[in-house]
Amino acid sequence: MHLPEALPKAELHLHIEGTLEPELAFALAARNGVDLPYADTEELRAAYLFSDLQSFLDLYYGLMAVLRTADDFTELADAYLARAARQGVRHAEIFFDPQAHTERGVPLGTVVEGLARALDRSEERHGVSTQLIMCFLRDRSAESAMETLRAAEPYLHHIVGVGLDSAEVGHPPSKFAEVYAAAGALGLRKVAHAGEEGPPAYVREALDVLGVERIDHGLRAMEDGELVERLVRERVPLTLCPLSNVRLRAVDVLEDHPLPSMMAAGLLVTVNSDDPAYFGGYVGDTFHAVHEALGIGQEQLRELARNSFLASFLDHDEDRRAR
Ligand code: HPA
Ligand code: ZN
Repeated sequence: MHLPEALPKAELHLHIEGTLEPELAFALAARNGVDLPYADTEELRAAYLFSDLQSFLDLYYGLMAVLRTADDFTELADAYLARAARQGVRHAEIFFDPQAHTERGVPLGTVVEGLARALDRSEERHGVSTQLIMCFLRDRSAESAMETLRAAEPYLHHIVGVGLDSAEVGHPPSKFAEVYAAAGALGLRKVAHAGEEGPPAYVREALDVLGVERIDHGLRAMEDGELVERLVRERVPLTLCPLSNVRLRAVDVLEDHPLPSMMAAGLLVTVNSDDPAYFGGYVGDTFHAVHEALGIGQEQLRELARNSFLASFLDHDEDRRAR
């Protein structure tokens, strides 16, 4: 039997900052003279016990203190791409959180140019094509998002689209209507996290108000039958992250994950790793885990891999080459 890890696939929901492994965090901390509030990698790993999205985000943003120079971002992205390649990834659409860096004094150009250095050589080094998606932090103001978009204009040749992430509840997509309209006018593609912890209404808003092409997570859409019908009818891709949902307590155990019923409903779902350094697995590990825990068989694993290319921003010709 073909190993699920080896299936050629695209990864569409991956926060590059969420690939910061404890070993690299400590190496960068030493190099940059940053004090971490953990004695060693073991103690840091032991802190990865999350009760919800916010408890994860607190640690995730805190650990970013070690990322300071363009080289740090290059190293981070290169390490992810090498691992992803070993797990069958042929194409990766990678999120980054500019405000999480600019707020602590790291210029946007340092972040983008550092990441771009790794991404630009990724096909040659790792056999993985890449695109970069800039996410706005939804728990910051709409003005801050607009400033971030304006600051990114010199770097748009490196950026394919915009996304929306961070603490969801209380920060509906409509808050960012203006900045998404401006991003669309610049020719950027649009995605947004919705329905991870937030209600189905946020998924509708992301579609209707922001005009997104894909929904990141979208788990809670399952509470609304009409919305599910619409997502099926309009072939809106959902980038699911089952290991993330377990670690952030959206579902109790992987065995309870609605992935099988979402596939049975005819939704265009993909399986992704979200923040693999924190959630216990990269995307190949995730394919393996849903196979084991949810009885997702060989044919369905192939369907998930096929969906990942269909839902990607690759055009059809590129799509065939990547497979
Ligand atoms: N949800 C929202 N924001 C995030 C996530 C997530 O799963 N990972 C990193 N930022
Ligand atoms: Zn995410």
